[in-house]
Amino acid sequence: MRQLTPHERRRGYSPGSTRHDLPSLVRANGWSGAKPLRWLCNRYIAKNGLEVVEEQAPKIKEFLDVDMKFTEKVALITGGTSGIGLAVAKNMAEKGAKIVLASRSEEKGHKALKEVHAISPDAIFIETDVTQSNRVEHMVKETVKTFGRLDFAFNNAANIEVTASPSTHESPEESYDKLMDVCLKSVWLCMKYELAVMVNQKSGGIVNTSSMDALICSAGTAVYAAAKSGVIVLSKSIAQEYGRDGIRVNSFCPGAFMTPMLASHFEGLSPEEKKALENKYKDFNALGRIGDTREAASIVAWLFSEDSSYVTGQNIIADGGICFA
Ligand SMILES: NC(=O)c1ccc[n+]([C@@H]2O[C@H](COP(=O)([O-])OP(=O)(O)OC[C@H]3O[C@@H](n4cnc5c(N)ncnc54)[C@H](OP(=O)(O)O)[C@@H]3O)[C@@H](O)[C@H]2O)c1
Repeated sequence: MRQLTPHERRRGYSPGSTRHDLPSLVRANGWSGAKPLRWLCNRYIAKNGLEVVEEQAPKIKEFLDVDMKFTEKVALITGGTSGIGLAVAKNMAEKGAKIVLASRSEEKGHKALKEVHAISPDAIFIETDVTQSNRVEHMVKETVKTFGRLDFAFNNAANIEVTASPSTHESPEESYDKLMDVCLKSVWLCMKYELAVMVNQKSGGIVNTSSMDALICSAGTAVYAAAKSGVIVLSKSIAQEYGRDGIRVNSFCPGAFMTPMLASHFEGLSPEEKKALENKYKDFNALGRIGDTREAASIVAWLFSEDSSYVTGQNIIADGGICFA
């Protein structure tokens, strides 16, 4: 019996391993079903390397069993380099979509792209500030230039870089404009260019990220809440406008999800203050916990999928049970 190489030992092969080529293994086991075999094999090899042995059969089977809802579909995700956006990108890549990540920081972009590439090679990053019309136009053009179409747009980018301002009567007017630009105008700008592509295709799905703050209205979040409630109304109105073009538009309304944005609220607090704030987020909802971004991702993926084909103009709330209206 031949000696295993160190690489094979690390991967847990046994001395009796028989090498296979993946398509034969899949065919021999009758696993291919209706899924595009060559495409699946390429994805498996991109993720796991070229070597395929008998012992890996259960792992391969598990990989092939993933529901390939979005094969050959193209998804553009603003704010796709962090938090909720990155979780959505990974979820949709796992389901076969080609992914475009967009955000301002190239460094974050390349780091996030590496994570998505570990799932699928069909992903790019486009440096974009969603408050800049020419950058948004470029983002949509580059998407179509690279992948030939645009099926789904998750308009999710936002920041709260200007919310650490004093109370309303002390706030500079400029902070209002900045917050409105990044939380509301950006969503309109993205849709303006995305819809132009989708109308020509006669199909498309758009999901815009709102926030629980739009519904519960607490002190200190006035402008953010107003902008995010604008996202809900904008989505509903545009859903009416484009329904007959085969385009569905919904908003996604998160409660508290553990992301860098939420974590920024904990910065500079003492350990006791951190614990108290964490408990506040948890106590606030019926489930008594902060959301996992993967839970957000599966809702957004559902909104893009055919499983929600009769859903448009809706604001889908995922808050662990805060808003019961
Ligand atoms: N996490 C929560 O609990 C929560 C609750 C309610 C609503 N939300 C909403 O959910 C969305 C995602 O938030 P998150 O928590 O996932 O935040 P996050 O982890 O901070 O991610 C925000 C993303 O948006 C990008 N971004 C920020 N400003 C941008 C701009 N001007 N142009 C382009 N990209 C920009 C960021 O990348 P760059 O910095 O590189 O640009 C990053 O990729 C936001 O709309 C947020 O308001 C979150």
